[in-house]
Amino acid sequence: MTPSDRGKVVLGVTGCIGAYKAPDLVRELRRRGFRVQVILTRAAREFVSPLALATVSGEPVLERLFDDGSGRGDDDAAGGVRHISLTDETDVFLVAPATAHAIARLALGLADDFLTTFHLAQRAPLLIAPAMNTNMLRHPATRANLETLAARGAEVIAPGVGELACGWLGPGRLPDIGVLADAAEAALRRGRAQSDLEGRRVLVAAGPTREPIDPVRYLSNHSSGRMGAALAAVARDRGAAVTLVLGPGSVPPPGGVRVIPVGTAREMRDAVVRRAPGADALVMAAAVADFRPERAAGEKLKTGSFRGAPGGAAAGASVLRLVGNPDILAELGGRRAAEPGWGPVVLAGFAAETTDPAPEAIRKLERKRCDLIVGNRVGPGRVFGEDRTEAVLVERAGADGSAPTVTPRPPETKRDLADAILDVVARRLAAAPDPGGNAS
Ligand code: CTP
Repeated sequence: MTPSDRGKVVLGVTGCIGAYKAPDLVRELRRRGFRVQVILTRAAREFVSPLALATVSGEPVLERLFDDGSGRGDDDAAGGVRHISLTDETDVFLVAPATAHAIARLALGLADDFLTTFHLAQRAPLLIAPAMNTNMLRHPATRANLETLAARGAEVIAPGVGELACGWLGPGRLPDIGVLADAAEAALRRGRAQSDLEGRRVLVAAGPTREPIDPVRYLSNHSSGRMGAALAAVARDRGAAVTLVLGPGSVPPPGGVRVIPVGTAREMRDAVVRRAPGADALVMAAAVADFRPERAAGEKLKTGSFRGAPGGAAAGASVLRLVGNPDILAELGGRRAAEPGWGPVVLAGFAAETTDPAPEAIRKLERKRCDLIVGNRVGPGRVFGEDRTEAVLVERAGADGSAPTVTPRPPETKRDLADAILDVVARRLAAAPDPGGNAS
């Protein structure tokens, strides 16, 4: 394992089936360079072994305040009280999985075991990853408790959706280990890092759209939403309030951002256009389907219904009539140009090309009237779904009509590219005159 010097995560593990993933989470946090101290509740012990957690974390697990007959309580640190001394070492406090009962105890401020006494004493960012049956999650009591914790500044990590241990389908799963580790890492970085987007509202559209043919078929593309998710996460880490309009079938959204799920291009257009006036910066990272079937059939189309369609289809050929979708970025750029003061100060988009992206990115910058186009190569095995990319940034110069600046980027992770894009966004926002007419 890597030497652990990036900070200490205190991981509270509470008693539900998701607790069996805790050793993997500890390993992932340590792989990323964090020290990890595990606190286990009594119920969690039923699902995961303290010995396994002590082994992977390299630290004895903290479980009990008092001697329960085993010799001593975990709170009797040499010369001190452990639930207090641990607070000085803690950079992030992550409770994962968090049961409905644990959430209620934290919301109430109870202090009847190691986890809850430590919770009241510590001052680090608190992250909660609820994991439970869908109805328990939706119960007004649980929702109110989560809102209470969020109002006090805790970050609630959205539960995963899928099949639950109880056999139900719905929200309530413990999110993937990577999502939890990302959230802890982001919270740690937030505590320490630059905050050049503090107070800014950033709107990101990401992922593919799906255009229904009938209730079971659709037209779409290979976009994973990974680039947009990276942009949302980095903007959040840099202090922005982020809204992510997200197409279907995409990577899980990062925690700490507002997610607006959409399906079709027209739904995405409505969601983006409605929120655009309130955004300081808008990045269209979505792969919007350019066409949709002229009509989505109400019932599943039978294979035979495609054959011999009017319009001169050759015998045996299938015909699906398509119409164009709205170009969201072009609409926003056009409206902003027509109504000065309307819309985001910085408008950015992407150009996904299978050939050299720079010339097309320059053309799209003009045609869609935006401030920045990120050109990248797509195609089989490239960019879509990958974590690495190679892009070119094409940025509008001043209002004097001079040629745009073209900055090729080295091969890099999507997270690093997101940082570079947001460097441009932050610089342009800082240089823009504020509504009162003064440069901010
Ligand atoms: N875009 C959009 N609405 C569409 C199509 C694209 O807002 N209906 C946005 C994308 O999110 C991206 C930019 O426009 O930021 C360029 O998308 P791209 O697919 O590369 O270009 P298109 O405009 O679709 O042009 P073409 O397919 O001819 O390359």
